[in-house]
Amino acid sequence: MAELGYDGRVAIITGAGGGLGREHALLLASRGALVVVNDLGGAVDGTGSDKGAAERVVDEIKALGGEAVADTSSVATPEGGEAIVQTAIDAYGKVDIVINNAGILRDKAFHNMTPDLMNPVFDVHLKGAFHVTRPAFARMREQGYGRIISTSSGAGIFGNFGQTNYGAAKMGLVGFTRVLAVEGARNNVKANAIAPLAMTRMTENIMAGNIGDKTDPKLVSPIVAWLAHEDCPATGRIFSVGGGRVAEIFIAETQGFFNAELSLEDVRDQWDTICNRDGYAVPANMPDELGLFAPHFK
Ligand code: NAI
Repeated sequence: MAELGYDGRVAIITGAGGGLGREHALLLASRGALVVVNDLGGAVDGTGSDKGAAERVVDEIKALGGEAVADTSSVATPEGGEAIVQTAIDAYGKVDIVINNAGILRDKAFHNMTPDLMNPVFDVHLKGAFHVTRPAFARMREQGYGRIISTSSGAGIFGNFGQTNYGAAKMGLVGFTRVLAVEGARNNVKANAIAPLAMTRMTENIMAGNIGDKTDPKLVSPIVAWLAHEDCPATGRIFSVGGGRVAEIFIAETQGFFNAELSLEDVRDQWDTICNRDGYAVPANMPDELGLFAPHFK
């Protein structure tokens, strides 16, 4: 089969000055996408900035014969989000793909967690995706085409020590993605999320000498690029990816227990039935989930 291409598609990739975002940018640009390489260029904890990070990736893309433009705005403010989308409009006239990838870490066990550690993490991951996607989504609806990929994390989906701030923001992106999928359906705007695993500056402390040499960030980009492609049918879905393995993560619901006069003792006595995973359902959206109540409400 023919190779997949993105000729003329305009892609915004946030936090693309290094790590995973840089790999997404290199792959999409190598297949003909016109790429906005956004990066504030700060440290892993979000402090500082360096305009050179985005520019260096643009230089790399151009040296390989691709087309890209740098943007050094922060995703963490509404003005930054608008500016990033405006960079795409000014350079290429439209935006077809948004990859919400920018991220920072401020880990701390919950008993030591403070608003100073929580707020910036929410601002970059969750609000950042909101700030960039909002102006882009308006244009995607108008043009009847869009692909949005947000970077979630197993830390939020499954839980990980010391990351209540990060985990909550990352799981928030799952809700963001699922609602966008519902709202974008009518205008051919698809939204999906990934939970990656890769050796980058963000994870080198825990992965170096461990699984670091097996988890090249390059191995995350193929699923991101597929979710960004016009042929991809998926929307509202979550994919785990790392080290060459790709799998789907889904949210399921047991068939449960029903009693029109449910009591506290019912919940105690029927616990095994409530939690029995045989025949679980995988609702695609909220109306789908309501369908699980319907047989009991006749
Ligand atoms: P990274 O630190 O190399 O990349 C993050 C990039 O975001 C950096 O280049 C940084 O300058 C940029 N950035 C930070 N704040 C920004 C802001 N306000 N505006 C614009 N750019 C900003 O780390 P990595 O691993 O490539 O992370 C990419 C994404 O993947 C992040 O969202 C991270 O949380 C997520 N992730 C990574 C995992 C891994 O195993 N590496 C695991 C799960 C999620």
